[in-house]
Amino acid sequence: MIKSYIWPLSNRIAHILLIVFFAVSYLLGDFDKLLRYHVAFGYAFGVVIAFRIVWAFIGPKYSKLKDFNFSLTDLMAYMLSVFAKTKEYAGHNPASSFAIVGMFVVTFVMLFTGALAYGIQENHGILSFLHNSYFKDMEFFKDVHELSANLFLALIGAHIAGALIDKYIKKSDAIDSMVHGYKTLQIQETIKTNIFQKIIGFVWIIASLYALYYLIFTQDNMFIANANQKQNYAQMHPVFFEECASCHIAYAPYLLPANAWILMMKDLENHFGEDASIDSVANASILAFLRENSAENATHQASVKMLKSLKGKTDIIAITKTPFWEKKHRDIDKNIWNTKEVKSKANCKACHQEIDFGLLENDLIAMPKIKS
Ligand code: HEC
Ligand code: HEC
Repeated sequence: MIKSYIWPLSNRIAHILLIVFFAVSYLLGDFDKLLRYHVAFGYAFGVVIAFRIVWAFIGPKYSKLKDFNFSLTDLMAYMLSVFAKTKEYAGHNPASSFAIVGMFVVTFVMLFTGALAYGIQENHGILSFLHNSYFKDMEFFKDVHELSANLFLALIGAHIAGALIDKYIKKSDAIDSMVHGYKTLQIQETIKTNIFQKIIGFVWIIASLYALYYLIFTQDNMFIANANQKQNYAQMHPVFFEECASCHIAYAPYLLPANAWILMMKDLENHFGEDASIDSVANASILAFLRENSAENATHQASVKMLKSLKGKTDIIAITKTPFWEKKHRDIDKNIWNTKEVKSKANCKACHQEIDFGLLENDLIAMPKIKS
């Protein structure tokens, strides 16, 4: 048996980057507040993959697509002999060849729908220009994105299972070769990388790491940038601002449906235990403004989801009593509502910076600390 060098350093580092970038991105996906990091790791994952595709054409032997084994007969033989030693493969065996191509296809769907969801649902990033046209379908893109990410996870599971079978049953050193680059084979198969490939390999790793750094640390880069505009309510409607932002912040009109605003404005004498009544001219003018910008007339994620969760029941006049709000704040430590910084659920600004400008971005959430 002869030790042959099969996987160059750049392949092996890129492989580790793929594992780390996917794992971090997947884990962060569940935390709204950390969404921009999820996106950054996702894009960086895409950069590693993009270079890998180029590498499949200009890389050394075995890294090239043409050296993958797509023979169905070989695949059958390989799959049918799980518990026996099979033909030796210096590069990718047939099962992993197919698995890798499958992973590429799923990756493409995952990254593309991720960028779509970020643009359409969150109104962030390079595809945010699609937000206004497709906001009604925002959840579709997010669902496909999540589905493809879970499918990718399943493929990773199969990939790891295959690698473990390879190592412990077929006694191949395929896994180890992803660490040190060498496989023990019948014949000498050592690959050589030329200077051009060495440079591309180096650029591959540096570019992937730099992409991550850039996405995380460059404020307002086009891949993360927020396309939601700050709303200056004082300027947009001075009367609304004067009358409705004196006891609390000016609640963004897009946070309630038109009917809720109508009901609220009809009964300002009994406004949450306060008398907030105003003359009828001001009342009519404010109501017109609220209706014009109500949830039905907004494209915000919060408006779309709020309306959906209300299921036509539009007579709830407190945002904090709506099912959508309750669901979004369900997991927050109950003690926070009694802290002196928060005091009331209606005190949105204690946690949502710039909500008084109509911005509800995930990365503008900062919770006060609970002192015990
Ligand atoms: C005199 C003081 C006062 C004025 C003026 C006032 N409000 Fe309020 N508003 C309150 C109080 C008090 C609450 C209850 C806050 C809480 O639950 O902590 C409230 C609650 C609300 C809520 C519900 C917040 C939640 O819990 O989701 C909305 C929406 C609201 N006000 C809109 C308006 C609008 C629109 C105007 C202008 C027409 C207005 N308010 C004027 C005192 C006022
Ligand atoms: C004690 C802090 C706190 C207060 C007060 C608070 N929120 Fe939140 N809110 C959060 C946190 C934390 C999240 C993110 C939850 C998560 O990770 O899913 C959130 C999420 C949301 C979301 C969902 C955002 C999204 O992108 O899906 C909306 C909408 C929202 N809050 C509106 C409000 C409004 C309106 C008020 C005031 C009436 C308010 N919140 C008061 C902490 C708070």
